[in-house]
Amino acid sequence: MDNKVTLVEVGPRDGLQNESSIVDTDVKFEFIKLLHDAGLNVIEITSFVRPDKIPQMKDASDLYNMVVDNIDLSNLRTPCLVPNLKGLETAMKLNVSEIAIFTATSNTFNIKNINATVDESFQRLSLVSDKAREVSLDIRGYLSTVFGCPYEGIVKKEQVIKTIDKLLKLGVYEVSLGDTIGVANPEQVRSLILEIKKNFDLSKMAMHFHDTEGMALANIYASYEEGIRVFDSSAAGLGGCPYAKGATGNVATDDIVNLFHKIGVNTGVDQDKLHKASSYILNHLKKNSPSKYFNAREGRKA
Ligand code: HMG
Ligand code: MG
Repeated sequence: MDNKVTLVEVGPRDGLQNESSIVDTDVKFEFIKLLHDAGLNVIEITSFVRPDKIPQMKDASDLYNMVVDNIDLSNLRTPCLVPNLKGLETAMKLNVSEIAIFTATSNTFNIKNINATVDESFQRLSLVSDKAREVSLDIRGYLSTVFGCPYEGIVKKEQVIKTIDKLLKLGVYEVSLGDTIGVANPEQVRSLILEIKKNFDLSKMAMHFHDTEGMALANIYASYEEGIRVFDSSAAGLGGCPYAKGATGNVATDDIVNLFHKIGVNTGVDQDKLHKASSYILNHLKKNSPSKYFNAREGRKA
């Protein structure tokens, strides 16, 4: 097994989408720049969704243009979330090179999040993926509520496997498995990964843990031991989905990098520079971080 993981930084999108005070586009840009300076080479920039549903993302086009105009993209992938053909049109106008499509394993969450059942979402997404493949866009796939739905509870493994299969058939290069409400535990994670290994190529899977119950790092370690090498995380542990009540932020990039570096796994991230990026956005949001590692570093400064 190789000794390296890839981190997909979702702070500018998942991290900020739930923040009620609107962050200036310039501040989002500077945050992205600091994250890239820290060595994060896959950064989810924004989402092309209904601005009345997710007001924080209403500057999506301006922000994307700012990134393209001012950051060297030769070593940076910039996926953007796209829910439907209208979102794809925006992505294509901006010459986005990579999109992320998203659905869930459960109908109730999906209806609240994207106004479509799981089946309806696949009808929509197949139009998006057909068009995206025609113009050679890379497509990442997200599957939410993999370990539990806020409305329907535990999700059966068979349902997860069936939905992963449908996403892969749309031509996504990777499926990010979302613990949207942060209820997974390491044994549940291992058991699902074992099932996934029987059915799919594990190198096409990523893990996306929210840390609501403080179990994300344990789940990440279990996933790593089972062979997962791509993890989503958010600087300073910001985040949450407005349609997943009570769920808190993504696992903090600060914590996941600390975990991997301590066990000798390379992330490519400079921890001092990452701390700077996290401090920057926290200062602008006037918030404290839930990240243990971030706070430990702050404590050592005092
Ligand atoms: P809808 O209402 O079904 O769309 O929304 P519609 O096609 O019926 O159109 C209704 C109106 O919305 C029309 O405007 C459209 O033009 C407009 P009108 O003609 O009435 O003035 N519209 C749009 N505007 C801008 N961009 C678009 C767009 N589409 C339609 N793309 C839709 C369906 C999915 C668009 C909507 O429900 C939506 O935007 N939802 C927000 C979803 C979202 O961003 N959720 C958070 C991200 S997912 C997440 O966080 C989970 C994840 O992190 C993984 C995990 O943790 O599990 C990824
Ligand atoms: Mg998420």
